Amino acid sequence: MADARPIGIFDSGIGGLPIAKQIRERMPNEHLIYLADTLHAPYGEKSEAYILERSVTITEELLRRQVKAIVVACNTATLVSIKALRERYSLPFIGVEPGLRPAALNTKTGVIGVLATAKTLTSQSFHDLAERVAMGAWIEIQPCPDLVILVETLALSYKDTYNTVQRYIQPLLDKGADTLILGCTHFTHLKAVIQQVAGPNITIISTEEAVAREVDRRLTMDNLHAEVSDLGSVLMLSNSHKTVFEKQVTTLWGKADIQLF
Ligand code: SIN
Repeated sequence: MADARPIGIFDSGIGGLPIAKQIRERMPNEHLIYLADTLHAPYGEKSEAYILERSVTITEELLRRQVKAIVVACNTATLVSIKALRERYSLPFIGVEPGLRPAALNTKTGVIGVLATAKTLTSQSFHDLAERVAMGAWIEIQPCPDLVILVETLALSYKDTYNTVQRYIQPLLDKGADTLILGCTHFTHLKAVIQQVAGPNITIISTEEAVAREVDRRLTMDNLHAEVSDLGSVLMLSNSHKTVFEKQVTTLWGKADIQLF
């Protein structure tokens, strides 16, 4: 039996859009509801209790809209909240974690740089993950609070972001990192700029394709896929200013049904 209910995807803002895009490309038949908790962004500056409370509130909002699975398209919310969400609700939650495993397989120098929010980098879940999968690589961390703001304000060009990106990545490159992990979904919007600033010999790792693959795998496993012949709808929700959100979505996604929640 096909399941026509939508997949819910949430982030503190527009950082999860590259993940939504990958899901859309891989499963165009699925209905998607993307929710940006813009009023409460950035999560990386908030307490764990606050992020958990937001994650629960958003889950309830998505459940009212009959979602069949939820993608936590935010590294900070995944590391802080996903375990509690899985314990509390019975639908599948798919999260996003920094790509430490592919980075450990890629590095030749043995040094990996991780760009993320301070909350992600100081979380116990990040340290546990690093211990499990880093395979002896040395991990250099770099909190990048300004990058989330740059992305939310659509300051995305090389010119807009060069100084900030350079300030964050140079210390990692100086320590020998040949592989940089984008450990915050917002930074995916800056992947090309970060590659340009870092140079062609540095590998940049982001995880949107892996997350879309995992969503597909989970829907298959739980028999939750929609009818293959249908074209899914896309609904974009935000709790901030509609015109601001419209501009963000039009720039980063294209035409879509946009509503406030
Ligand atoms: C933020 O809202 O601070 C970004 C969250 C993230 O993707 O880690």
